[in-house]
Amino acid sequence: MAPHDTTAGPSDSIDGYVGDSLYPSSFHASFAPPNIDAMLAHVGIASPRGHATRSSFTMVDIGCGDGIGLILNAAAHPEGHFIGIDGNPGHVARGAAMAAEIGLDNIELHHQYFDAALAAQAGGAADYVQCQGVLAWVSETNRGHVLDLAAHMLKPGGALAVGYNCLPGWTPMVAFQQMLWTLADGLPGTPTQRFETALEQLRATGIFEAGHWEWIDEMRGRLPTDYFAHEYLNRHWTPLWSGAVLEAAAERGLALAGQARPNRLRADFALKAAWRDTLSTIANPAARECALDLLTRNWFRTDLFVKQPYARLSATVQAEARMQGWWSAARPLGEASFEARTAAGTIRFDNDAAHAILRALENGPQPLSAVPDIGEADLFNALDALFMAGEVVPADPPADVPLAAATHAALLRLDAATINGAVSSHGVIGIPRGSLRP
Ligand SMILES: C[S@@+](CC[C@H](N)C(=O)[O-])C[C@H]1O[C@@H](n2cnc3c(N)ncnc32)[C@H](O)[C@@H]1O
Repeated sequence: MAPHDTTAGPSDSIDGYVGDSLYPSSFHASFAPPNIDAMLAHVGIASPRGHATRSSFTMVDIGCGDGIGLILNAAAHPEGHFIGIDGNPGHVARGAAMAAEIGLDNIELHHQYFDAALAAQAGGAADYVQCQGVLAWVSETNRGHVLDLAAHMLKPGGALAVGYNCLPGWTPMVAFQQMLWTLADGLPGTPTQRFETALEQLRATGIFEAGHWEWIDEMRGRLPTDYFAHEYLNRHWTPLWSGAVLEAAAERGLALAGQARPNRLRADFALKAAWRDTLSTIANPAARECALDLLTRNWFRTDLFVKQPYARLSATVQAEARMQGWWSAARPLGEASFEARTAAGTIRFDNDAAHAILRALENGPQPLSAVPDIGEADLFNALDALFMAGEVVPADPPADVPLAAATHAALLRLDAATINGAVSSHGVIGIPRGSLRP
């Protein structure tokens, strides 16, 4: 593919991806470095940062949108360096203005297409790469560029977290998206206006049953209006089979380590015994992941890959790493729920260990080792359940976050409603919990 003119102004398409509308600012806490480290420790893989949290590191965001996620991480981690890449100049301008307003000097946002970035960006220096909402929204060629770029920028042992729409969960919406996109193509107006017009034209046809309309109308009541064009009006939008993603990653030296989100952290909590039995009969890893998605009717994955070669922790070092990991409570103890809803049903864990962990975190982040009087096995079980329930989130040891107040003020001006929930439970930014309300 020929290199793109990255100095051009807004265009209506970036290789088939909506280019004349700005994606709503969004923050994905599960792609933050402490979260990735906790997920890696859980499967016995060393953190790209080694054991010394708060040592310097580099994080890259491929298809970063306006980079709000990177900006929050950059504010929370003055010791880190952050690089965002996106093909929409409006996204980069919005993020750069916000980073400048806050006063961040550890972030660079590049207006680059993926293939141009592959040629321009230095290789082998990144500890973490995140890529949310891109892989299943772009052409097959660009999917290759994204994975090539991630593999190029990561150092050995570095981690890639990639979130994408998957099959079979999205199956009922494939025809719906195809009809919407086709109806919207060539209509006048902004992408959001075209989406709205096409949606009502599609509704009038009566082709799709109530379930589709319940799905989309519920989302329209909840999500920012500009989200929808970016989800439904891309020419190459296609939910992916996880097995195909795994194979494409493996070809580039990226090995699946787990998921960035903790919803499947523990198979014994998240999967029915019969499903686990079935999965244990499938030796091929790609086929096993597809089977898992089929059994759980999964519609979204946050695959976590590690660049080969990488270090495995001994059982002793792994247990030590988990005991030394820092955690933050997502809400005050009195509001905590001791239940987690998983694909297998609801797990309940209203036990001494879970209460002891939340009591220890009441006054701010602490390492798991700070929880008194509970044995290691009970601690790990309760922590896993609390993590899966969203009651605790991985954190770094508190550090001076000099720009927390400026970040807080900038977020309030940007769109507190969108970002409030994720940030206030994130725990490491240094912004008082729940204070990001308009
Ligand atoms: C759905 S948005 C996700 C944004 C962000 N990662 C998030 O989750 O909030 C997809 C992003 O990929 C960017 N993108 C799509 N195709 C691209 C390409 N070929 N080169 C560079 N960026 C591209 C878009 O501009 C957009 O910001």
